[in-house]
Amino acid sequence: MNVSLIATIEKNALEAMGLIKDLETLARFETQFLGRKSELSSLLKELKNLSPEEKRTIGPKLQALREKLQTLHSEKQAEIENNTRDWEVERLDVTAPGIPRHIGHLHPITALEHEVLGIFEHLGFTVAEGPEAETEWYNFDALNFPKDHPARDMQDTFWIVGGGTKIKKGKVLERERLLMRTHTSPNQVRFMEKNKPPFRVIVPGRVFRNEATDASHEHTFHQFECLMLDETGKVSVATFKHVAETFFETFFGKKVTVRLRPSYFPFTEPSFEFDISCVLCDSAGCSTCKQTGWLEIGGAGMVHQNVLTAAGYPKGKYQGFAWGFGLTRLAMMKYKITDIRQFMGGDLRFIRQF
Ligand code: DAH
Repeated sequence: MNVSLIATIEKNALEAMGLIKDLETLARFETQFLGRKSELSSLLKELKNLSPEEKRTIGPKLQALREKLQTLHSEKQAEIENNTRDWEVERLDVTAPGIPRHIGHLHPITALEHEVLGIFEHLGFTVAEGPEAETEWYNFDALNFPKDHPARDMQDTFWIVGGGTKIKKGKVLERERLLMRTHTSPNQVRFMEKNKPPFRVIVPGRVFRNEATDASHEHTFHQFECLMLDETGKVSVATFKHVAETFFETFFGKKVTVRLRPSYFPFTEPSFEFDISCVLCDSAGCSTCKQTGWLEIGGAGMVHQNVLTAAGYPKGKYQGFAWGFGLTRLAMMKYKITDIRQFMGGDLRFIRQF
């Protein structure tokens, strides 16, 4: 076999390759130089008729040329494809706005709760929690509710049928009637039992009432319980007024006046309900404050001695204020929401507005 033939094939192939500009010519090149009927293929087929010595010298040369041409072919193919890409179509505009992805966010009440807790923490309050399924003792008895108080009625309280059974080693130890807590106040006693004054604590939480629901009544809503206790003579109604005003001024970012009105709660003596000057109209009178210039906020008072005794404290040693208020009400004021049922209604169109 003529070795110079191999060199000629290579020379021709390289020349042809140099002229190729598109895929069609490249396909012709492939048929001509690498195809089954190409000179190179015929030479490779003839190899078997050669003497062992010729096979050894010529064989590798033919193989090498074939590989070289194959490599050149794929390189050229990549080059042509690259050159003919439509970059306008494929262009990636990294400055274009992305596809917005809907990620969840906190429920407005939860967000508000965090905000409120933050303010109280700055005022030196500890945050505590308590159970939603509560015993009758903590929810009513320890808070000085008389046995026949109407708040205990089926109409006001969700009682858990058969709840509160404590079982240890297969034996029923005690049965206690459980209920869904109707306020966060049971945590006053729960916290007192585990801590010694002086302390300031705030307990947020969900509370439940067996209500006929309407725009301003809901069976499930959120409250806060605030308790500040110290030795007798150190915490007064003036302390409460100051804490309340500081809280609301920080929360609403403006000057707020707190007004107390005499009231009654079994667990405080004296008791009062309190209002704040209307932050929406600056007390000029608007629909939210019903033209009075005041917004009703919640109940408060000096903790009743019977409550302190129920918590196991010695009589007369400690004194302090307790304060309960509806976080849901605060949210309604802040966002001007007129129907309380929106919050727990589960309608995402409402929730997504926050
Ligand atoms: N627990 C009361 C309620 O839900 C609110 C309340 C009133 C809490 C007076 C207090 C308080 O701590 O001192 O209606």
